[in-house]
Amino acid sequence: MSLFPKKNFFWVFDSLLPSKHLLKFRKFLFFEPFLGNDIANRGKLSHYGNAERKAFAKTLKKIRSETELLLEDIEAYHIYMAVKRTQKVPGDIAEVGVYKGGSAKIICSVKEEKHLHLFDTFEGLPKVEDIDLVWPFYEGKFAASFDSVKAYLKNDRNVIFYKGIFPDTSEPVKEKTFSMVNLDVDTYESTKQCLEFFYTRMSTGGIILSHDYLTAPGVKKAFDDFFEGRTEPILETAGSQCLVVKV
Ligand SMILES: C[S@@+](CC[C@H](N)C(=O)[O-])C[C@H]1O[C@@H](n2cnc3c(N)ncnc32)[C@H](O)[C@@H]1O
Repeated sequence: MSLFPKKNFFWVFDSLLPSKHLLKFRKFLFFEPFLGNDIANRGKLSHYGNAERKAFAKTLKKIRSETELLLEDIEAYHIYMAVKRTQKVPGDIAEVGVYKGGSAKIICSVKEEKHLHLFDTFEGLPKVEDIDLVWPFYEGKFAASFDSVKAYLKNDRNVIFYKGIFPDTSEPVKEKTFSMVNLDVDTYESTKQCLEFFYTRMSTGGIILSHDYLTAPGVKKAFDDFFEGRTEPILETAGSQCLVVKV
């Protein structure tokens, strides 16, 4: 536990009321009639009778029953769509920030034969700076069992794991190009390192998607700084994510 008071506070608060439970029970905790649907219902996916969305909702429900997934429904759907619509873009797929494999499973459900490179410390967040200190982020948060994640994805083809701090683990993929990259690393430094590594390796039309652009100041700053002066606009999605299409 760090000596920095804000870090201690987040750690203690998260230990008493784990974020996964808070999110799971937010419907009860943030009683709808008082607080509207902003917190209680956020991120629900409307299907408008569309068969593909209905099928996705079923897949998502199954994944949620199998593992802990730290995404709103609409955020999960953005990942699904980004992978699907970049199928014809040359290159592999990568994810940095795997945690228990939930978002990776969504990618696997739609990637077909593409190679998926999965990067995580599996020991939780590395160094967290002042800019990253919003609940529930602190060093070591989101540690997951590497063996369990490998077992969970063992039947999915062309999935390769890299355990350790990115970009120290990036050497084996430095000659590759990418069609879709999903970032979910929560902090400024990790996001900056990911953008510096992947941007030049993205094929034209490839998508970089990131969680927490709206909710993690470090992620937002890393994107805003990196794309300032570059052509690609940063599209803030209706959830917490942002998305960039490489031109
Ligand atoms: C919020 S979790 C990912 C959640 C997951 N994508 C999901 O939807 O369930 C963030 C993950 O990023 C990983 N992480 C953050 N920075 C990293 C880095 N530089 N290298 C490797 N893993 C990192 C942490 O270990 C943690 O598992």
